[in-house]
Amino acid sequence: MTRNERANFGSKLGVILASAGSAVGLGNIWRFPFETGNHGGAAFILIYLVCVLILGIPIMIAEFLIGRRSRANTAGAYQKLAPGTQWRWVGRMGVLTGFLILGYYSVVAGWTLEFIGEAATNSFAGKSPAEFIASFNGFVSNPWRPVIWLILFLLATHFIIVKGVEKGIEKSAKIMMPLLFILLIVLAVCAVSLPGAGAGIEFLLKPDFSKVDGNVFLGAMGQAFFSLSLGMGCLCTYASYFRNDTNLSRTALNVAGIDTLVAILAGFIIFPAAFSVGIQPDAGPSLLFITLPNVFQQAFGNIPWLAVILSLMFYILLALAALTSTISLHEVVTAYLHEEFNFTRGKAAKLVTAGCILLGVLCSLSLGVGKDYTIGGLNLFDLFDFVTAKIMLPLGGFLISVFIGWYLDKKIVWEEVSNNGALNVHIYKLFIFILKFIAPVGIVLIFINELGLFK
Ligand code: TRP
Repeated sequence: MTRNERANFGSKLGVILASAGSAVGLGNIWRFPFETGNHGGAAFILIYLVCVLILGIPIMIAEFLIGRRSRANTAGAYQKLAPGTQWRWVGRMGVLTGFLILGYYSVVAGWTLEFIGEAATNSFAGKSPAEFIASFNGFVSNPWRPVIWLILFLLATHFIIVKGVEKGIEKSAKIMMPLLFILLIVLAVCAVSLPGAGAGIEFLLKPDFSKVDGNVFLGAMGQAFFSLSLGMGCLCTYASYFRNDTNLSRTALNVAGIDTLVAILAGFIIFPAAFSVGIQPDAGPSLLFITLPNVFQQAFGNIPWLAVILSLMFYILLALAALTSTISLHEVVTAYLHEEFNFTRGKAAKLVTAGCILLGVLCSLSLGVGKDYTIGGLNLFDLFDFVTAKIMLPLGGFLISVFIGWYLDKKIVWEEVSNNGALNVHIYKLFIFILKFIAPVGIVLIFINELGLFK
């Protein structure tokens, strides 16, 4: 396949918004708050920010350059840049990781659809916090409703994927991302002005280092990879559609900046709201789905039409943010099957969608009828989350940094990062240093620390 036949993003803004669309999603608004809650708040956030800066941004630039240089799907990319070597397994592992993430991610994405329905019919009205908890638990363990929603969600993803890169992926991101941002700001303002919100703000800003253990580091690193869509070739696949004049390092800074801002904003919505209604911040995956309906209820219960409109908008945008992310995960696997096995794009997409529906249904059932089937104490849903975010993505990130830092010809690296010398990249030396030493060593230390080998 020659360069010109491949699809491309149409504009600079399109490149940034599509990549940010991949990065911003349930990871920011659902997963970031519950990981922060589980790991004690501000101290976790600080470590998370360090992970974004010294692991996330350099590895994102690395993925961008692998993708744009090779102009191929992630497995094909390693084959092109390191022909005949075992590096292709990094790409293949990425495809597998993407498939597993999409399986459980679409379960939560499906929940957002149920909540759109609840918001539209004003079903949050008059419920107490205990009732919100009970109704959420009843819903996720139901064998039918969440399953139907997740299938619908995957079909929506499928529909956009078959439309292609510019008309599907880019166009949808250009509309959805700005809207999401505005709504998050409105909600954050509402949440911090709830009675008792101060305790939540303190939780976010005042680090309690006594809560920091090995677990916190692994959690923060995993969250950084997950939230930035790194470690499995997702942004590498998107970068294969970048234009030759796209500034890779600036794009990475923009995407990481937007992603972090959205996560912090989400924190400023969830925690003040949770503390205000007396819900524990470590409620886990249910946190977002219990506290938020409460915010709408408490803040706007007296003005029912406003409560309906705001909650409806929020869940629609949450679904859309999830959609721009599921699209990017789907694209990784679809591009792989399409290019490596010569399926048509449509057929590749169908296979991916069908496989993900199967995985998603199993994950969803593992929260209800199948909750007694556990592996290592985790049900399938939690197991997929743990294995992908906390093992496969950091491992992928480790291998990507070694690939760029040690293996790939530095001439290629420089040509891509500087657009053949057209750009002045001040951080180039630092970038190489991080990929060579800091990132691989850092990731290994965090793994070792988690295993408790330091004690
Ligand atoms: N980053 C997305 C989020 O925060 C999820 C996601 C999309 C992802 N593509 C990915 C996570 C690739 C890991 C790897 O919701």
